[in-house]
Amino acid sequence: MSQSATETAIEALNAWWRDMGVDVGEGVSAPPQHKPPQAARPASKGERVPQRKRSKRLEDWIEDARQSAAAATSLTDLKSAIEAFEGCPLRAGANKTVVYDGIEGAPIMVIGEGAGGTEDQVGLPFVGKAGKLLDKMLAAIDLSRATNVFITNVTYWRPPGNRNPEADELAVCRPFVDRMIELNAPKLIISAGGVSAKSLLNTKTGIMKLRGKLVDYTTPGGLTAPLMPTFHPAYLLRRPQDKSRAWRDLLAVKAQLDGMA
Ligand code: URA
Repeated sequence: MSQSATETAIEALNAWWRDMGVDVGEGVSAPPQHKPPQAARPASKGERVPQRKRSKRLEDWIEDARQSAAAATSLTDLKSAIEAFEGCPLRAGANKTVVYDGIEGAPIMVIGEGAGGTEDQVGLPFVGKAGKLLDKMLAAIDLSRATNVFITNVTYWRPPGNRNPEADELAVCRPFVDRMIELNAPKLIISAGGVSAKSLLNTKTGIMKLRGKLVDYTTPGGLTAPLMPTFHPAYLLRRPQDKSRAWRDLLAVKAQLDGMA
């Protein structure tokens, strides 16, 4: 196996474990290659390197996010507030701020993890390969971002190399996520993938255990909506054999919605 194939396989393995809720830390890495030492690659022209150094403490940025989110009285206001927010270190390495797509005030809200490469180029959530699968999954239960779904993420900037967002990155975005839920006031939330579900539910339990069970989610502002954790579509692209379990989750969503009508 060539080195790049090995690295690709290891990356996929790490991503798979992470999606399954296994804490792999930095993950396994490729065996050392016996190459002559090389100078570090300088950042290429125009490449932005994420800065983790902050001018303020995390708690202060979180407080700023809280105040800015609370001041927003509409989803468009909130989008502008997120675009102006400078407290998330992911912002420095991203091309676009990816906030939401779909119908404002839609009864269903899908909350994923964060932008990937395509989203970072386009500026909208779930528009790459995983997004196409998400659209198909939603269509199977008569849902679509064109009519009755609002789609967002628990972070608003693409993590470098598509790694999972870190705890501080999730924490500074969280006041915006909660305010978005309050302003959209969904009948039901679908959280896509382990990162989203674990962050929203503030738990270390993995998606394998969380998925398929509706739980009530209450924002700090007091809005409560049922939340269904399910697999991330990117995980299902890697593990199509789990699509039947995701299908069961979607049927439970549909039954819940039918019962609310
Ligand atoms: N994965 C996510 O979790 N969100 C996106 O917007 C795209 C891919």
